[in-house]
Amino acid sequence: MYHNGVQKKSLRRPTNRTRGLTKTQSAAKLPVMRQYYLWTIGCQMNAADAARVGQGLQEMGFVPTSAPRGADLVALITCVVRQSAEDKVVGRLTSLKHLKRHNSQASLVVMGCFVDDRTALQARFPYVDAFFQPSDISGLLEWVRERAPATPRDSTREIVPYPTSQPVSAFVPISYGCDHHCTYCIVRLRRGRQQSRPLPDILTEVRDWVVGRGAREVTLLGQNVDAYGQDMGAGAPDLADVLTAVHRFEGLWRIRFLTSHPGHITPKLIRTVASLPKACPHFELPVQSGDDQILRRMGRNYTVAEYHELVARIREQVPGCSIATDVIVGFPGEDEAQFQATYDLLASKRFDAVHIAKYSPRPGTPAARLPDDVSAGEKERRRALLEELQTQIAAEINATLQQRTVEVWVEERRRGKWKGRTLTNKLVFFEDGANWRGRLAKVQITWAGPWSMQGRLAEQDSASSSRE
Ligand code: SAH
Ligand code: F3S
Repeated sequence: MYHNGVQKKSLRRPTNRTRGLTKTQSAAKLPVMRQYYLWTIGCQMNAADAARVGQGLQEMGFVPTSAPRGADLVALITCVVRQSAEDKVVGRLTSLKHLKRHNSQASLVVMGCFVDDRTALQARFPYVDAFFQPSDISGLLEWVRERAPATPRDSTREIVPYPTSQPVSAFVPISYGCDHHCTYCIVRLRRGRQQSRPLPDILTEVRDWVVGRGAREVTLLGQNVDAYGQDMGAGAPDLADVLTAVHRFEGLWRIRFLTSHPGHITPKLIRTVASLPKACPHFELPVQSGDDQILRRMGRNYTVAEYHELVARIREQVPGCSIATDVIVGFPGEDEAQFQATYDLLASKRFDAVHIAKYSPRPGTPAARLPDDVSAGEKERRRALLEELQTQIAAEINATLQQRTVEVWVEERRRGKWKGRTLTNKLVFFEDGANWRGRLAKVQITWAGPWSMQGRLAEQDSASSSRE
């Protein structure tokens, strides 16, 4: 569910003030407005939070800007899943130490998994105005509302609004937090116990936040999205019920969900994904290790054999589906044979994608009390071996799509090409002069690499390629 790279938040939301204006036009015509800059790192849950914070700020009259300098509000949405992510957050915070030199009234706020003991954080970063826990969107927006002057400060600054446009895809969290006890994981400590959202709230959000804004694809999010409902008592709906209910929205074309814990995938969920045409046949199913002893010490609650059996069942019942996984190399005490077991698991299961992480001790987790005894060099060697293997496997899997025609949901234009995804979450690029953003395109694959594919437009059948 997590990615390593810093996601520069581009909030492509239309506002009444920015819609349809060129940069120069808007700079000339707009009154001075408060500007916000959002920086996001980490998982899709953070991306979902950032989009909502951005929307809330725009409703208060803020406009997005692409750099912190001069902004009236800077908000960081943070991640600490590994030390490298935490280092990036601290680096970003440090770089913002003198923010107020450029705008003495600027506010700096921090939200997300970086935030634990606020008193200690405040002492360490006295120039931060407020800290908010992960997903405390309303807390952050309330804080801004209370402080923000009714009218923006007087300024002669030119406003260069960040380009915004209608979303084509949106995230909807269906549960927050996690009830598992993976011994390496800090996320559960920062995000707390699992709290599923009532189904009517989810449906309202899909209606207003996704379909109502013209997006055709929704991704349902949870730390363990397949454990949805388990905290709500007997008779509560499960993920399959959510998928079925969301599937009824006519304006919606694709439904994704992530991340699934192998322990909660039920036969009913597999059947539901297989039978609902809009449910993407794609599973994010972290395994973490191919060795039972390591899995036990990680607190994962399944065995390698059970995981194998689950993958086989999914593949049998959802033909053509894709499966992605997460693995950690260099967990405390992982020896060569145990690493080899993970290598063998990836070689035999042949996943469509693998997110490989080097173990990183996290403060307060049970595993952090164990000696971090696999050296940095050895962790890197194991990571590189897995990556080499997976590159080969992904290239072979994608090569089977050569010359085949796939349906691509087009998200954006990048470097002169249209970029979109197949139902199975594979990236496809193609060239065309028409505007394909937010449309389904039939694309014939002409080149397939391990991470993406290129293709040419095939003959379209009008029903699926039109936006309406
Ligand atoms: N249930 C969540 C897990 C969040 S952590 C989900 O599946 O999305 C996301 C991934 O980061 C985990 O699957 C794991 O592979 C990796 N990860 C978590 N803690 C880690 C640590 N301490 N060191 C290295 N990788 C870690
Ligand atoms: Fe973390 Fe395990 Fe939950 S990885 S978020 S404790 S399922």
